[in-house]
Amino acid sequence: MDNLDWKNLPFGYIRTDYNIRSTYKNGKWGEFEVSTSEYIDIHIAATALHYGQEAFEGLKAYMGKDGKVRLFRWEENAKRLVFSAGGVKMAEFPVEKFREAVFKVIQLNRRFIPPYGSGATLYIRPLLYGSGAEVGVKPASEYQFIVFVTPVGPYFKGGIKPVTMLICRDVDRAAPKGTGIFKVGGNYAASLRACVAAKDGGYASAIFLDAKEKKYIDECGPANFFGIKENTYVTPKSESILNSITNMSLIDVAKSLGMKTERRKVPVEELTKFSEVGACGTAAVISPIGKILDPEKNKIYEYCRDGKPGPVSMNLYNKLIAIQYGDAPDEFGWTTIVE
Ligand SMILES: Cc1ncc(COP(=O)(O)O)c(C=O)c1O
Repeated sequence: MDNLDWKNLPFGYIRTDYNIRSTYKNGKWGEFEVSTSEYIDIHIAATALHYGQEAFEGLKAYMGKDGKVRLFRWEENAKRLVFSAGGVKMAEFPVEKFREAVFKVIQLNRRFIPPYGSGATLYIRPLLYGSGAEVGVKPASEYQFIVFVTPVGPYFKGGIKPVTMLICRDVDRAAPKGTGIFKVGGNYAASLRACVAAKDGGYASAIFLDAKEKKYIDECGPANFFGIKENTYVTPKSESILNSITNMSLIDVAKSLGMKTERRKVPVEELTKFSEVGACGTAAVISPIGKILDPEKNKIYEYCRDGKPGPVSMNLYNKLIAIQYGDAPDEFGWTTIVE
């Protein structure tokens, strides 16, 4: 694509050439259909529209210096989609079919893969929803799987910068035994009031606390939380957060750098004990957090006072993105080349 300004692309939707679809009917998934349409024809009584039977994924393909396209840990996204499908009683989309669909959609839209060095990537969005008609509250008998791609710009234009976040105490994203561990649309709908209030107040995101006791950190909008304490990477254990693939990877990267790691409950007061804190997820890999406000408790936590990300976060970030782009050896076997 000659006419795309890769370095200045937003994290938004740009039309590409093709998407891939498959329909589940009579107990089985059908053949893939390659579509050029950006639209779907959906039954007015589809369970996705009324009862939120929907799950999605998000992963990226990276163009390397060697001209090879690498997909990062696609199998984890495939498995998470199976898990999310079970969470809202949908037909599961098989892992092997997921691989086939994702590879095919990348190959078909090759001209939209941003060049190495632009900081932009090809974002891949698999989607699964109940397409069958029901009026009573029950799972559909028909489902649709779609995967589309869109090129997205670097998350931090002009370099990685610490952000400010707001602790949210008046909205819960997910209940302890609810759907927070699944990547389903309803969780995002539930988070919007808090996220919009945080954005309107000039914050990068809302930090959600555990819904039951409001004592522990859950996650930061659409990203997991981590803190660095001496030589330890600490990240919350909670039954209401999404198990981030980036976070899982950072834990292994931290260990490989000789750090200790802990996944456990993280009380809000512990924010005073960390030297660095950050949010992690596919979109930004790491967003270092420079400041956290907790207005209801009249508290401000400050990190990165010089406006620069902390050294440990930068180390983790640099090592992980080097693997994703193929600049460093793939010592964990996380990348797959898309021929
Ligand atoms: C709620 C939530 N938490 C965490 C993450 C980060 O997960 P991952 O690293 O798999 O992108 C995401 C993004 O997918 C998310 O939506």
